[in-house]
Amino acid sequence: MPTNIQISELCQAAVYARNKSYSPYSHFRVGAAVLTSDGNVYTGTNVENAAYGPSVCAERVAIFNAVSDGKRDFEAIAIAGGPSNGALQFCPPCGVCRQVLAEFCKPNFLILLTDGSEDVKRYTLAKLLPESFGPDNLK
Ligand code: THU
Repeated sequence: MPTNIQISELCQAAVYARNKSYSPYSHFRVGAAVLTSDGNVYTGTNVENAAYGPSVCAERVAIFNAVSDGKRDFEAIAIAGGPSNGALQFCPPCGVCRQVLAEFCKPNFLILLTDGSEDVKRYTLAKLLPESFGPDNLK
């Protein structure tokens, strides 16, 4: 279970990662930061594409960044999103990202939404993706 300090730092990392968002089509900038069980943080941003379909969300980039570095055990993810010309808002992960989280994360994995204030919204993966299909179904 992440400490309050880890949660605060993870949220800050998501807000900072958002600065690198490539979102010229939606103008909706998102940053994500994932905390591994061994205490490392990996970040990602949304990366859009002129063909739209190949665009990818910040959460998946963060998870894939970590998996590419050999990490597969995760405690929490923080997400910071909002329009490029407006304030941060609580930005819940899309359905595809929830499914990607279910591939690697346990039901009690924490999903943290930050709007940059102290008020962090906390959910578990089980809450945001109940009755999910995952690796266990294929065993
Ligand atoms: N987006 C994310 O990166 N994460 C979310 O949780 C929601 C949506 C991105 C996808 C797209 O680049 C833009 O935000 C608008 O949907």
